[in-house]
Amino acid sequence: MDTIHIRGGRPLNGTIEISGAKNAALPLLTAALLTEGTLRLSNVPNLTDVRTMGRLLAELGVRIEREQGPDGEVLALTTPEITSTLAPYEIVSQIRATFWVLGPLLARVGHAKVSLPGGCAIGARPVDLYLKGLEAMGAEIELSEGYVIASAPNGLKGTVIRSPMVSVGATHVLLMAATLADGVTVLENAAREPEIGDVARCLVAMGAKIEGIGSSTLTITGVKKLHGATHRVISDRIEAGTYAMAAAMTGGNVLLSGAEADTFASALDLLEEAGVGVEVVNEGVRITRNGHRLKATSVATEVYPGFPTDLQAQFMSLMTLADGDSEITETIFENRFMHVQELARFGADISLHGDKAMVHGVERLTGAPVMASDLRASAALIIAGLASSGETVVNRVYHLDRGFERMEVKLSACGADIWREKA
Ligand code: UD1
Repeated sequence: MDTIHIRGGRPLNGTIEISGAKNAALPLLTAALLTEGTLRLSNVPNLTDVRTMGRLLAELGVRIEREQGPDGEVLALTTPEITSTLAPYEIVSQIRATFWVLGPLLARVGHAKVSLPGGCAIGARPVDLYLKGLEAMGAEIELSEGYVIASAPNGLKGTVIRSPMVSVGATHVLLMAATLADGVTVLENAAREPEIGDVARCLVAMGAKIEGIGSSTLTITGVKKLHGATHRVISDRIEAGTYAMAAAMTGGNVLLSGAEADTFASALDLLEEAGVGVEVVNEGVRITRNGHRLKATSVATEVYPGFPTDLQAQFMSLMTLADGDSEITETIFENRFMHVQELARFGADISLHGDKAMVHGVERLTGAPVMASDLRASAALIIAGLASSGETVVNRVYHLDRGFERMEVKLSACGADIWREKA
């Protein structure tokens, strides 16, 4: 297994190119199942999660070709016919988003057998909202031996679905299912994450009829068929927020090129509150900090446009060196504090009280061997390593590779002493 090594204590200075958003690319890839036409996606990040999704889609009948476009590589996905409707445990247990093929498969061919999902071990993460929504649209659902077996022999029917809680994944699945359903589907209390908007805009380019994009009520009028389209994946707000935290923690001056400030405004506001310089410029967002200690700042994770749970671990890392006490509340997932014990290895002072972590800022951190527990937590450990004296070794970096493209390369280009050792 690869490890990442960091000799910390250097400021970050330079430009970091922000990649396409993983959490938009994954559902966008599944949209290829909805049409015989070719879906061309650019700005798709090169990540293990994307390759895993590609492997599943190939099994279901999607032909994936790489083309050269004016602004880089384009993935051209064509699905003349669905050749299998089985999403097996071996794949779905690796990343949760592969479960989402349930929506487009049901919509296009009226049946699917999809393993119950896996993904990061950050809580129970049930799928009841997905299944209730699809049932409301007329699907018959059976759970058997770890699989969801869904069928809608007479097609899905539009209806009003009010979700009791906001779920990103359920919104993606129901939105895709509704594009080809008979009649009008209204998704109330839908997730408003920018990635949902990105997917909805792509579906519209494919011929779907969707109103309310960007709001918590999506109204979808089903159409008979969708066609091919060309779409550029939005920039990754979680990656941008992660590098913003890294620059804030080490000090320095970093341009996050291509970052879209309005998609992670809550994180940028929080950083400013803590004393970090944030400037929105034409090319993206510039993050600066010179010398002085950051102010301890409290936050609770929330659904969009609130502070994202996917930046909670990174922000906690930042707060370990702040002046004072900060309270970090996790409201989205019930088990998303596994980084706390690893941050303690650097000398961080954090105590846990239910869904709250109390971080008492310390003067300095020292490098340590640590273990990544999940995707975003692994980024938090790298950030802590960059700001620690001495050497840090991050184990289990396959978590990192699921969602961050060439992180060590991007950071070393800004002056960090960081390298990967191949197993
Ligand atoms: C997506 C993101 C993930 C992010 C999360 C919250 C992708 C690939 N993943 O995950 O990075 O951390 O949104 O912003 O985009 N829930 C239920 N029943 C359901 C579905 C969800 O109780 O049927 C609960 C979950 O357990 C969780 C909460 O709802 O507590 C939010 O989950 P959800 O928004 O569905 O997250 P994901 O789509 O899995």
